[in-house]
Amino acid sequence: MIYSDKVMDHFNNPRNVGVIEDADGVGEVGNISCGDIMKISITVDDGDVIEDAKFQTLGCGAAIATSSIVTELIKGKNIKDAVKLTKQDVADELGGLPSAKMHCSVLATDGLKVAVDDYLVKQGREPICGEIKSADPNFDPHEDDDHHDEEDY
Ligand code: FES
Repeated sequence: MIYSDKVMDHFNNPRNVGVIEDADGVGEVGNISCGDIMKISITVDDGDVIEDAKFQTLGCGAAIATSSIVTELIKGKNIKDAVKLTKQDVADELGGLPSAKMHCSVLATDGLKVAVDDYLVKQGREPICGEIKSADPNFDPHEDDDHHDEEDY
């Protein structure tokens, strides 16, 4: 399995590791089959722009690298644009991911969605992302590995 230099860089030197005290929104997602857990905390300004983001990921190298790049990509973005990031966007930004590792990038994008909805709900506003499967502790993203389609990867 070959990883790009950028994946290795974000794995070896992950950016924005940690937890933001008094974060405006927090998201935690994971899956039971590999035990990976991802937690992201964000601060958001009055115009719904993400000011800061930090993450903690207990998991594989691809999950750490994708979490790291997502925290970089979302800073300065409006929450509505940030939650549009797909696992393919994340993989492209990292110079590609092996297909067997594509599901790992879902943790970061899903964690962000949960954090954004947490922020909105805390403000008494309507969530915009709806149900996130990986926020369910019984969710298993590896279930999709054997029956993905080309478009998905
Ligand atoms: S092995 Fe990376 S999230 Fe499952």
